[in-house]
Amino acid sequence: MFNRTKKILATALLGSGLFLTGCGSAQMPFAPGALNAKAGSGGASTQVGGQNGGSTGAAVKVSYTRDALPIFQKNCTMCHGAGKMNPKDWTKYDVAFANKDLIFLRIVTRKDMPLGMPMSDSDRELIGEWVKLGALDTPAETTPAPAPKPAPAPEPTATATSEPVPSPTATATATPAPTMEPAPSPTLIVTPTFRGQVRDIFVNRCSMCHGEGKMNPNDWTEYTQAFAKKDRIIQRVVVEKSMPLGMPLPDAEFAIVKAWLEGGAPEAAAAPAPAPAPEITLKPVTFRGQIQELFTSRCSMCHNTQSWAMNPNDWTDYATAFAKKDRIYQRVVVEGTMPMGSPLEDSDRELVRRWIDGGAALE
Ligand code: HEC
Ligand code: HEC
Ligand code: HEC
Repeated sequence: MFNRTKKILATALLGSGLFLTGCGSAQMPFAPGALNAKAGSGGASTQVGGQNGGSTGAAVKVSYTRDALPIFQKNCTMCHGAGKMNPKDWTKYDVAFANKDLIFLRIVTRKDMPLGMPMSDSDRELIGEWVKLGALDTPAETTPAPAPKPAPAPEPTATATSEPVPSPTATATATPAPTMEPAPSPTLIVTPTFRGQVRDIFVNRCSMCHGEGKMNPNDWTEYTQAFAKKDRIIQRVVVEKSMPLGMPLPDAEFAIVKAWLEGGAPEAAAAPAPAPAPEITLKPVTFRGQIQELFTSRCSMCHNTQSWAMNPNDWTDYATAFAKKDRIYQRVVVEGTMPMGSPLEDSDRELVRRWIDGGAALE
């Protein structure tokens, strides 16, 4: 029957912080995560909670429909489903439930899914929690008030179809509730640029399939390639909406790409706009400022000049990192294959990207 033992095992693994990254994989002599794990402290937080059967009992803390499904929709549907790279459609509850241990293995233990794409640690944790707690969906009876769906049904008025007039006493609609819909995006006054916004979108949404040796050789993260084929991009992304394959761009990103193409697909802003551009000003990323520390904690256990080093490039040395910044960009930002076995969090990866895009300055 169902794997209470596996569940406990999974909980124990999570609790100890020892993900089996690389176990059984020949290239990895040890699991990098282990370095950070509290050594010893035998099963410190192994809480095999009171989730006995998982059938009824306590209110469901992590639900398929509410928590797991949106993550699957966002991260998996471009490759998973009928006629896609892998036929298992995780947006179907029965499929996800039947494969929950496999999902745990690939998302939490090995972290090799979503294939070639980043996924936030918090999303991974949520999926892990969901499996550990029995991979349940929210049973109807646990939620007394069936979800705060913004039901636009103002009872008294009969014709209230189109405009949900904000009634002054609105009790239910008072709080706009965190909807999935992003707030009406500000109208784009300035044409987006490739370096500014578009490249990021292409890295996130296209590079898992596009590039040398991938499903399609066009590397849209390279400006010259994207610019040369911008008419094809207009056709596929804006007109047909057939790209990204299997997963259309979210509205906000679609608007940026469209505005960029309509504005002539510029690489960078023509001249420093005198008006305060509505771009968020970010603290510049420098080696001394943020990167050296990041490389020390995340790379130096394998990359150093000791005789036992797995790789002799010491990235905590500025000259070494600067000289190979393009390789770092490729492995960390584009492929996400470094740090080996334990990819950076999105925010750290973004730091590395900004550092190199900005010229990889020392300080
Ligand atoms: C870019 C494409 C891509 C994305 C995105 C992706 N997958 Fe996959 N997935 C694959 C391919 C291809 C396979 C089959 C090859 C393999 O097992 O590595 C696969 C296999 C799997 C398997 C093993 C299935 C089996 O029958 O052995 C699991 C589990 C899985 N994916 C989970 C996920 C989840 C969950 C997500 C989203 C959070 C996801 N994948 C996102 C491409 C992808
Ligand atoms: C899940 C995989 C996948 C993703 C994600 C994806 N593509 Fe594609 N793309 C393909 C494949 C496969 C082809 C070749 C077959 C075809 O044309 O449909 C292709 C073809 C194209 C073409 C036609 C190329 C030509 O030479 O005519 C364009 C343009 C394109 N993609 C743009 C994009 C853009 C832009 C993105 C991201 C915003 C994107 N694609 C994301 C798989 C993908
Ligand atoms: C668990 C060990 C490990 C960790 C952690 C790790 N690497 Fe690596 N790295 C390797 C190994 C082994 C190689 C050589 C094999 C290969 O290229 O895959 C390598 C190769 C590379 C290369 C290619 C070097 C070249 O000359 O082309 C780059 C770039 C790189 N790593 C960057 C990083 C960065 C940046 C970090 C930290 C953010 C990091 N790595 C963390 C093990 C690791």
